[in-house]
Amino acid sequence: MKTLRVELGERSYPIHIGKNLLSRVPAFLTEAGVSVKQMLYVITDENVAPLYLEPLLQSLRESGYTVHSSVVAGGEQAKSFHVFERVMGEVIAAGLDRKSVILALGGGVVGDLSGFVAASFMRGIPFIQLPTTLLAHDSSVGGKVAINHKLGKNLIGAFHQPLAVIYDTDTLTSLPRREVAAGFAEVVKHGLISAEEFVAWLEENAEALNQLEPELIATAIERGCAIKAQIVSEDETEQDTRALLNLGHTFGHAFEAIAAYSQLNHGEAISIGMGLASELAEKMGLCEQGVSERTKRLLARYHLPTEWPDGFDPYDVLEAMRRDKKGVAGRFNLILPRTIGKVEIVKNVDEALILQVMRESAGRRQK
Ligand SMILES: NC(=O)c1ccc[n+]([C@@H]2O[C@H](COP(=O)([O-])OP(=O)(O)OC[C@H]3O[C@@H](n4cnc5c(N)ncnc54)[C@H](O)[C@@H]3O)[C@@H](O)[C@H]2O)c1
Ligand SMILES: [Zn+2]
Repeated sequence: MKTLRVELGERSYPIHIGKNLLSRVPAFLTEAGVSVKQMLYVITDENVAPLYLEPLLQSLRESGYTVHSSVVAGGEQAKSFHVFERVMGEVIAAGLDRKSVILALGGGVVGDLSGFVAASFMRGIPFIQLPTTLLAHDSSVGGKVAINHKLGKNLIGAFHQPLAVIYDTDTLTSLPRREVAAGFAEVVKHGLISAEEFVAWLEENAEALNQLEPELIATAIERGCAIKAQIVSEDETEQDTRALLNLGHTFGHAFEAIAAYSQLNHGEAISIGMGLASELAEKMGLCEQGVSERTKRLLARYHLPTEWPDGFDPYDVLEAMRRDKKGVAGRFNLILPRTIGKVEIVKNVDEALILQVMRESAGRRQK
């Protein structure tokens, strides 16, 4: 097992990464100072529940904890008002109090939803992340929790740091291929924003990583978590540098919102977004030629889309980008690459140029 730390003063917490950690959750709870007098509440989804919920509940009960649980639908649709209201009702009915602890067992959707339940119930109770997707190496760290609105992604949320992240890498063995690919989108993003040598390593080891070779995948997760943890420690509430983590996300969130959070998953949407961001940066002369090609080639090696998806109109995407919270006061502030391994916040990007890049991508698709 490897343990990293997110350094945030009194809100600092560990990220444990390793095999067979779900069976050791009671020990990690003790380490985090959670006593058996505190009621626990596990939130998970319908795909994860049949695989990992019962053994977890059993080990918690055997250790003396009182624990209840809710199971939500699988996929992005669960980050909705409707599901939030239902789960909140179940949590209240179970009799949780201010000392109770929520455990988020699942991918980024369960993590974001459960974290928002924890942030809102009685104005905030503690929660613990038990990530089960590759993508969740990103979403489980950093305390951004949210649900979606039909007008835009993650528009209703909070900053609420977990007490701990306990990442059992054995859970990845049951992850569908498409979700493995989606997870690599955020792994690649962590390389593109901060570490050329990590990008080169991802290029070199793509085949084995796609096969989830245990040692390599653990290294990829540790590196991704470390990059995220470092940035979050520097700028918890996104006053400046944390925004760099949004590479590809203004585009990506727009695709997700337009498709009503179906069709493309988050990883696919931001993969297309990172491709578009790199093209835009080349066109603006922010980075050398070839950055875009290398970015897209790497994403493609992880079976991710990088070109315009079917059925989207570039103008609609631009409109949805305007609503994304990163577009402050109608202006486009985008995260764009300077080179491989370095990105920058670029303010007031010309709307016409953004539209042109999207139209070119859509044009290539139609050929
Ligand atoms: N809070 C943040 O900082 C942050 C960062 C990145 C992404 N996100 C959010 O994360 C979400 C995407 O997360 P995700 O890609 O993990 O999606 P997800 O939680 O929907 O999981 C993907 C699918 O895999 C299934 N699944 C999960 N674990 C499994 C397992 N071990 N075996 C089999 N099936 C499993 C789920 O039921 C779901 O159908 C998006 O909403 C995105 O906005 C948040
Ligand atoms: Zn993301």
